[in-house]
Amino acid sequence: MKQIAVIGFGVVGGGVVSLVEENAAYIRAAVGDDVRVKYILDLRDFPDSPYRDRVIHDAGRIWDDPEIALVVETMGGVRPAAQFTLEALSRGKHVVTSNKELVAREGIALTREADAHGAAYLYEAAVGGGIPLLRPIRTALTGDRIESVCGILNGTTNYILTRMRDCGAAFGDALAEAQKLGYAERDPSADIDGLDAQRKMMILTAAVTGVLVGAEDVFTETTARLTVLDIDAAQRLGGAVRLIGMMRREGDGISVSVCPRIVPGTHPLSHVDDVYNGICVSSRLSGDVMFYGRGAGRFPTAGAVVSDVIAALSGACRYEANRVWSAPPAGFVRPFSELTGRMYVRIGGISPSQAAESASALFGDCAEVPGTPEGKTEFVTPAAPDGVLRQRLARMPGVTESAIRLL
Ligand code: NDP
Ligand code: HSE
Repeated sequence: MKQIAVIGFGVVGGGVVSLVEENAAYIRAAVGDDVRVKYILDLRDFPDSPYRDRVIHDAGRIWDDPEIALVVETMGGVRPAAQFTLEALSRGKHVVTSNKELVAREGIALTREADAHGAAYLYEAAVGGGIPLLRPIRTALTGDRIESVCGILNGTTNYILTRMRDCGAAFGDALAEAQKLGYAERDPSADIDGLDAQRKMMILTAAVTGVLVGAEDVFTETTARLTVLDIDAAQRLGGAVRLIGMMRREGDGISVSVCPRIVPGTHPLSHVDDVYNGICVSSRLSGDVMFYGRGAGRFPTAGAVVSDVIAALSGACRYEANRVWSAPPAGFVRPFSELTGRMYVRIGGISPSQAAESASALFGDCAEVPGTPEGKTEFVTPAAPDGVLRQRLARMPGVTESAIRLL
């Protein structure tokens, strides 16, 4: 019998406990032994839960119990989750987590601690919810060289953008719905401001390269300023606005970013709606491989956690690549300002003819946007380094109501 403990009996942790119980026979077959949740650590009691007799409040009981082979950390946040994880790993207990904030922030120390004690530290659920993504990257695709990863990694913002487009919902109302459905972070500004997707890009990049970049290395822009006018403009351009995370190899280094982009209708990511995530992985031999599925929610995420529990307890994870991470060498991350792209721009508060004249003087030959609303000026810039585009935009007269990069 393998005994495990779950720390954090919330949306994900609650799902993990029920899946382990309900799928006991299937899990036994995969692990080669029975797996049972012995402890559930949480701040509260759960008097109505069928698992109430397993709820404890003293974390020390988990570390000191030699029967506990694995700890599932689904409490979220950095403290005390980091300390709890180190306590478990230092005793050779495997740790499985859905906590991307912790993995992104402390991944170097935690993967090293796991390695030093012969334990597994697994976090499939931290990126892409229920989509099998990190394991395929670290196993099936290791014979290839991954050149870029580009995708929608935050279910909450994708849900909000879809609701705004399909029902004309206001940003705040759509967010409230996402919170009710259990998709959003405890502090939803992490979803809206791109920090959740930033953390996922850091983890994905480390899964591909073995290097964990810092949050400051990821160019990150909020979705909070997006309006229905932007969503409408993207549709008039034949595409959709999506929060896109992107990692690309650039010579010996990489670039990493998270920002809203207008995705052309011909690109599969423009059709990823609702809470779904979609991730395109481009590699030298296979070309494009796409992963698609539910990016958040209790059971999709809990299912990913349980697959890690099985991988750790069966030993199947032993041969995965990039299990131990290092810090980026100097110059490894290329500044976003140097990367070339195009931008959709909307200007108000100035006569359209004057705005159009300034746009062509500053940017050169801009493309028109069909159906521009009365009194506004819209254009798509030619390709230029991002820093150059931003400098020129700062010199535009009138009010820059919107500037969204194109994919
Ligand atoms: P919840 O807030 O629903 O669950 C967290 C649980 O941990 C709560 O019951 C909380 O108790 C408990 N907790 C908090 N601090 C402690 C502590 N010090 N000791 C013991 N228990 C504690 O969060 P989720 O389940 O939604 O998310 C958990 C993690 O999974 C987060 O890192 C999140 O980013 C990640 N994640 C979530 C997904 C989702 O769809 N929800 C998808 C993928 C990842 P209390 O409520 O009393 O504070
Ligand atoms: N808040 C996250 C999201 C949960 O909406 O994608 C899944 O990681």
